[in-house]
Amino acid sequence: MNAKLMKIENIQMDGDYYSLLLEYLSNKTGLNFEFYQRKFVERRLKARMIRVKCSTLHSYYYYIKDNPLEIEKFLGSFNINYSCFFRNWEVFQLFENLFLKCLYYKREDLLTNLKPKRKGKSKVPLQNKENSANGSLYRKLMTLNSENALEFSEKTSLYRKINDNSRSKENIKIWSCPCASGEEPYSIAIILDNLKKQIPEFPQFKIIASDIDKDAISKAHIGLYNENVMQELSKFNEVNYFTKIESRFGYKYLINEDVKKYVEFIEEDITKGHKKTKKYDIIFCRYLLIYISREARNSFLDIIEKQLNPGGLLILGKTETLFNSYNTLKLINSRNHIYLKNN
Ligand SMILES: C[S@@+](CC[C@H](N)C(=O)[O-])C[C@H]1O[C@@H](n2cnc3c(N)ncnc32)[C@H](O)[C@@H]1O
Repeated sequence: MNAKLMKIENIQMDGDYYSLLLEYLSNKTGLNFEFYQRKFVERRLKARMIRVKCSTLHSYYYYIKDNPLEIEKFLGSFNINYSCFFRNWEVFQLFENLFLKCLYYKREDLLTNLKPKRKGKSKVPLQNKENSANGSLYRKLMTLNSENALEFSEKTSLYRKINDNSRSKENIKIWSCPCASGEEPYSIAIILDNLKKQIPEFPQFKIIASDIDKDAISKAHIGLYNENVMQELSKFNEVNYFTKIESRFGYKYLINEDVKKYVEFIEEDITKGHKKTKKYDIIFCRYLLIYISREARNSFLDIIEKQLNPGGLLILGKTETLFNSYNTLKLINSRNHIYLKNN
């Protein structure tokens, strides 16, 4: 088939070679393809087949056997690393409000601002919206919404740990899984570092961040980012937590070293379990569930559920749901897809 005319919908996914190819790739890479939805795997395969001009899985199977470098390329296209700082920033605002509520602080008491420099299609800059005549109403509504949204806070292990006055007070533990190139765990670290600088006796905390993709983890360690992942970052956090560097390809943003110390990155395949034995108070598990096959979903959720403390919170992506509950996990905030583990 002529590559120019090759269309994704014309590519054939011949069944026998599909299993053969995935078995071969699985042996070579150790990746468990059963974990992912078939249509997701097929889309990735088709994208690579177009690139290397193979119109059938049969031809791609032999191509990949003759060209070992193609395995790396396939893996590169398979890991969907898209992420950005403060992705769906309202979720991070709720996370910050939760800490404030557990600590008996109000937003007005502190210097903080998570509102992005540019927010979607809104023509009115948010800063102006807040300062306008309608601003106080807008602020009241935001406060009201977030207060209602946090009715569950006293049931959390976070609240218990923060308000434990004993000497053996435990650290707060948060897991970002998957963390891509570090945008999500660093967003969490930025919020907590900013609160810690202003609140005396702020609790000790640790963030574990894991991903299967070795390159993404290396990038996270370096902490240098392009402009396209900074869209939901506020000016306040940009100024306080990044060094802006002019390069031939536009601006780059280097995360401050003092934020890095809160995050421990690990490379791991979550289908094989979690390397750490610790239990978490909050798990961010955003934009992985959408790729997981129905068969693998429950064993994956069992791993996540097991790693949560009683009273722990699971935060999913905006397009992900476990409906009202999953075993001991109960939906407590449908707007932000947050689940609380039974005590
Ligand atoms: C779309 S990103 C989500 C990143 C981040 N949580 C966010 O919301 O922006 C999905 C990530 O899942 C990772 N991933 C895919 N399969 C995985 C697995 N089996 N174990 C761990 N991470 C995996 C990919 O490498 C990719 O970085």
